[in-house]
Amino acid sequence: MCGIVGYIGKRDAYPIILNGLKRLEYRGYDSAGIALYDGKNIQLCKTKGKVADLELKVTNEMSTIGNLGIGHTRWATHGEPNDVNSHPHYSNSGDLVIIHNGIIENYAALKKELINRGYTFYSDTDTEVLVNLIEDIKKNENVKLGKAVQVALNQVVGAYAIALFDKNKPDEIVVAKLGSPLAIGIGDNEFFVASDASPFIEFTNNAIYLEDEEMAIIRLGRDIEIRKVKDDSIVAPYIQELQLNLEQIEKGGYEHFMLKEIYEQPSVIKDTYRGRLLADKGIIRLGGLEDYIEKFINADRIIIVACGTSWHAGLVAEYIFEDWARIPVEVEYASEFRYRNPIITENDVVIAISQSGETADTLAAIKLAKEKGAFVYGICNVVGSTISRATHSGTYTHAGPEIGVASTKAFTTQITVLTLIALKLAKIKGTISQSNYMLHLRELDLIPSKVEAALKKNDEIEKIAKIFKDATNFLYLGRGYNFPVALEGALKLKEISYIHAEGYPAAEMKHGPIALIDEHMPIVVIAVNSNHYEKVVSNIQEIKSRKGKIIAVVTEGDTIVREMADYIMEVPNTPETLSPLVTTIPLQLLSYHIALMLDRNVDQPRNLAKAVTVE
Ligand code: G6P
Repeated sequence: MCGIVGYIGKRDAYPIILNGLKRLEYRGYDSAGIALYDGKNIQLCKTKGKVADLELKVTNEMSTIGNLGIGHTRWATHGEPNDVNSHPHYSNSGDLVIIHNGIIENYAALKKELINRGYTFYSDTDTEVLVNLIEDIKKNENVKLGKAVQVALNQVVGAYAIALFDKNKPDEIVVAKLGSPLAIGIGDNEFFVASDASPFIEFTNNAIYLEDEEMAIIRLGRDIEIRKVKDDSIVAPYIQELQLNLEQIEKGGYEHFMLKEIYEQPSVIKDTYRGRLLADKGIIRLGGLEDYIEKFINADRIIIVACGTSWHAGLVAEYIFEDWARIPVEVEYASEFRYRNPIITENDVVIAISQSGETADTLAAIKLAKEKGAFVYGICNVVGSTISRATHSGTYTHAGPEIGVASTKAFTTQITVLTLIALKLAKIKGTISQSNYMLHLRELDLIPSKVEAALKKNDEIEKIAKIFKDATNFLYLGRGYNFPVALEGALKLKEISYIHAEGYPAAEMKHGPIALIDEHMPIVVIAVNSNHYEKVVSNIQEIKSRKGKIIAVVTEGDTIVREMADYIMEVPNTPETLSPLVTTIPLQLLSYHIALMLDRNVDQPRNLAKAVTVE
């Protein structure tokens, strides 16, 4: 949560920072702010609202001259999202200016101390405490900015990615990281700082990703100096060449990132298994897994930890791992797992699933599992992310940047990776027949074309969306492999349309939700070919007799449910085990269209953020 961006070099900082903030807005959009420095004067502008509001305010209120600048887009933690609480924040002297992504947990105690020393605070933020702490140390200990930052950070408990500059040092930015991400782009005597590489990708492919508890002093005309926060020791910079390109982070002709990302699914699912699945040869090869197969095979349990949509992918995995590989699986909300003193042993394998690779609760769950001796495997989308580095090994999904806050392609690519792992383990364990194994390999290879076919029904789904856009409640029902899809469908709808929606296992409907059903209630039922088909048909009958409106996801050519349902959304025939990869598509599209018709901000729904780096 929160995006930070900074620039120092020969160009005008303003357009770089502004554009960078727009690209990072997925990380939070409660408020935005910018500070520019031309070597003489600092110009600072901040406002509640989005980066577009900031742009307008800047146009009306300040000059945009300066080759040094920092900017921030905020997801509020401490203090309501008003102008004053927005970043950047000045220190009391007005010399230091800071932006911060994260949370300083002991800010109250530090603030009290600083107030006793005569400091005044204008905002409710923890960040203003940090910048004044740095100032206090700099003055009292008569040290340079970098040293003051290092000393201050050693007094801080919490998480941070910070960037700050000093009015007395027009050629220097200091940055540091713990928990929240921070990338430094390296150009020709110009430097970029950002929460991810998207703000600077058109300027340079060379970047350093700071590790936790590292800080960097970035000076024009000098090499970057990286130090450990704990002991001030020097770290040799590791410069990576980025694979990201501009096209991946632009809308490419689509109205929204979410729609683009929904439509990217055929290709990114393929990217995710390309080179890993050799369907004709019956081979699955996953680099991160090969050396750790024994750990999985001998595991007493697999515990999956994740949040949000990634947790739903974990639920799908529970079905496929237990079904094929016969390994007991528990799926845990990372936030609950970390705080409930769970039983974890060295014989457990923990799989952490995270699109961003930054989610604070998932990260904490990983740390706990590692402390207890479990082997931890990561499934992340963002390369080099904190979670991907905190795990013992793992597999990346190759979904490419997911910018729409509502997760779509991350979900289907996570399921793709989990399917590959489950099939591989089942094959080695001998818990799947050769014919079933080969069938699933071939079927997995067909998924991109089936997703493509499901996407072709977009116009029909749009019509259904129009009919139900004013509903105030939705129920989503599914059984077996499609129960998690029902949960995910409901989550998608509530996230972006703000319509209340609940997902349930279809059979559980009778134990409560059925009381909600009347002629106004739309019920989305996933009723594709499966072992439970007849059971789902019975559930549909039960809904019909209560006059509920049935929107059914059915297999192409289905006749029974077609007769009973009010509306249908067809998907190609797919083995039940792989069906979540296609049944989820119409549900994504339905949510998208409803949200659009209600004039919601599809890519940046209210109160949400893409990467939740606070617990
Ligand atoms: C946030 C996002 C969700 C996401 C969840 C977990 O709530 O809005 O879309 O599923 O975090 O994120 P992760 O990056 O760990 O998958």
